[in-house]
Amino acid sequence: MEKFLINGGKPLIGRVHISGAKNAAVAILPAVLLSDEPCIIENLPQISDVSTLLSSLSKLGAEIKTINKTSVSIDPRRASYFVVTKEMAQGMRASSYFLGALLGRNNKARVAPPGGCDFGVRPIDQHIKGFEALGAYVAIENGMVDARAKELRGSSIYLDMVSVGATINIMLAAVKAKGLTIIENAAREPHIVDLANFLNSMGADIMGAGTGVIKIRGVEHLHGTQYSIIPDQIEAGTYMVAAAATGGDVTIENVTPKHLESIIAKLVETGAEIEEFDEAVRVKMTGRPRRCNIKTMPHPGFPTDMQPQIATLLSVAEGTSIVTEGVWEGRFRYVEQLTLMGADIQVDGKSAVITGVKNLKPAPVRAVDLRAGAAMIIAGLMAEGQSTVEDISHIDRGYELITEKLSGLGADIKRINDYDAPSAKLA
Ligand code: EPZ
Repeated sequence: MEKFLINGGKPLIGRVHISGAKNAAVAILPAVLLSDEPCIIENLPQISDVSTLLSSLSKLGAEIKTINKTSVSIDPRRASYFVVTKEMAQGMRASSYFLGALLGRNNKARVAPPGGCDFGVRPIDQHIKGFEALGAYVAIENGMVDARAKELRGSSIYLDMVSVGATINIMLAAVKAKGLTIIENAAREPHIVDLANFLNSMGADIMGAGTGVIKIRGVEHLHGTQYSIIPDQIEAGTYMVAAAATGGDVTIENVTPKHLESIIAKLVETGAEIEEFDEAVRVKMTGRPRRCNIKTMPHPGFPTDMQPQIATLLSVAEGTSIVTEGVWEGRFRYVEQLTLMGADIQVDGKSAVITGVKNLKPAPVRAVDLRAGAAMIIAGLMAEGQSTVEDISHIDRGYELITEKLSGLGADIKRINDYDAPSAKLA
């Protein structure tokens, strides 16, 4: 079992390059199935979620050619299978996007129920409601989600809650449906806009992505395209918080500052100095962070995927902060790990009351999910001395070359096997 070994207590200093957005990539890769011609996808992050999806596409019959580390060519013409098994999905949330993509391509899809990070119940009722409104029949049979349609027809769909996944899945199913589909109360995240731009670059007719109402006029064919994925908002935010939390000075390059507004606003409240450039932000922190309250919300609110990282920063702030989770039922499972490092956090339902302590102490901790794992790394970098982070496969799902990028900023972090651990050697 691999883990990260961190010798913390040093400020992060320097420049870091941000990769392509995971949550855009995991929607765009299944979307290639809707094309009648090969597509070239660029700026793909080198993360395990991307390799899992590429291997699923290949098992469905698509031909994948690697162009370089971050670009692939995908020819979906021979993708004749429509079943995504549990083994292919590997517990990924984004495997659910094969439902919309295969339904849009073949009028039929059978996909293992999505897994992903454990934040409590993660239903897909809004995805199903959307498919049904487009004319599909959806059933759960033998543990698989089965969706079929004679023909998909455009429809008006009001989402009962803002859902990224349902918005994406309905876009995928509707893009080649007959007539007009309107998604109301749609999610507005940057990756929704990126998916719409990708589909439009193949000849789709999607308007309003990035607003609460998305209009999709179905087209018969989608042609090939060459498309570069946007920078990862959450990877950027994670390095911004890591810079502030370690009292560092880091320029985060290859970002879209507009996507980072809510994160910038909150970091400024904690006392960080932020300079914005066209495609970079510089984050500098001197002294102890100030307290602040945060509530996570769908975009353009403060992203839930930054909640564990910012809570870790606030754990050493002067004063008491309240962090309220406005998207997921159970996204405070990491708090137990943070308290092992000396944080003083009380969780009451959807809120965490964080009483700032002066320092975190090094400890062996676990990544309970992807962003929680990033938060544990930040905590390890903050605490003077040696910490370890276990269960790092969660982190590898979404952060490209994290040890290399952090080492480039002066961090002392290594990926080790259990048998390399200093305690094992002493024993
Ligand atoms: C996406 O998950 C992201 N995953 C998550 O990021 C992110 O936390 C989430 O959006 C919110 O921004 C991917 O893009 C692959 P939702 P998704 O549907 O689509 C409820 C990360 O760390 N809901 O927007 O699964 C749901 O329970 C990952 O990169 C229903 O009730 O999230 C939740 O409370 C973790 N019924 C809320 O809506 C549904 O049918 C938002 O979920 C769908 C959702």
